[in-house]
Amino acid sequence: MTTQATSTQRKVPTRRMSFEESLQTVPRHFAADGDLILSHLAASLSAVFPDGEDFFVRSVRHYRDQITDPELKRQVAGFIGQEAMHGREHRAFNDRLAELGYPTKRFESFTKRGLAIRERLAPPVANLAATAALEHFTATLAELVLSNQEVRDLFGNDEVRNLFLWHALEESEHKAVAFDVYKAVGGSERTRVWTMKALRFGFVVGMTFQIAVSLLLDRKTYKPGALRRSWRKVRRSPLLSKELWAQLKDYDRHDFHPDDRDTNALVTEWREKLFGEQGTLNDKLVTKAA
Ligand SMILES: [Fe+2]
Ligand SMILES: [Fe+2]
Repeated sequence: MTTQATSTQRKVPTRRMSFEESLQTVPRHFAADGDLILSHLAASLSAVFPDGEDFFVRSVRHYRDQITDPELKRQVAGFIGQEAMHGREHRAFNDRLAELGYPTKRFESFTKRGLAIRERLAPPVANLAATAALEHFTATLAELVLSNQEVRDLFGNDEVRNLFLWHALEESEHKAVAFDVYKAVGGSERTRVWTMKALRFGFVVGMTFQIAVSLLLDRKTYKPGALRRSWRKVRRSPLLSKELWAQLKDYDRHDFHPDDRDTNALVTEWREKLFGEQGTLNDKLVTKAA
């Protein structure tokens, strides 16, 4: 296994970004062809990111002082910086979505309260296991976004796609950090795998419920044929493919490590496309820290 070699090369830079202004022009049904379900799906994901990512940061920060490997320590600092920035920018997107009529702010506070209860009841190592598992979700979705043009096209609106592309790149850059911290502090295989099994179920059920509520509050849902047309498109998309589900389940494998899937070439390609000399997101960059 090439885990060590890969993790010593991993760069996790914190980029200070500002998408706020560009997100002001996002229309109500921003997804490709004004698609109903896809717009609500992206909005629902965005709604859980800020408080979810705050939770990831707290879970990892709890163990910061126990990490002795200076390389992993450096990656943890990068992870915290990246997740804090994602939360900030998705909150700005959620504000815009709320203006457009999405229940994103209610979902934000629901997520915040739910996670606060979890943190009161569960031990820190269980929260770290949840973070490592959810980071596998974000890494899997990030790889799909970065590697599949059809999926990138589904975002429809350029500004929404830009926000998710930046987020996807950084999720790929730091995909193994929470996992490596979990291993470094002696987290068990049993807890790791069972946490994922529970979360995989919980995430799908929770997200489906959230999208359903969001759709019910949208007048367009009640237009004859609108929902059916949209569902036909979503069902055929790579978002509901067997491969994606298998990739999520790979986490249950006994000797799994996030670096087993080599995404280095993909990360290098998108760093160049977004932040290279001619990077398409350089104008959204406030400062580029190491
Ligand atoms: Fe993130
Ligand atoms: Fe992340």
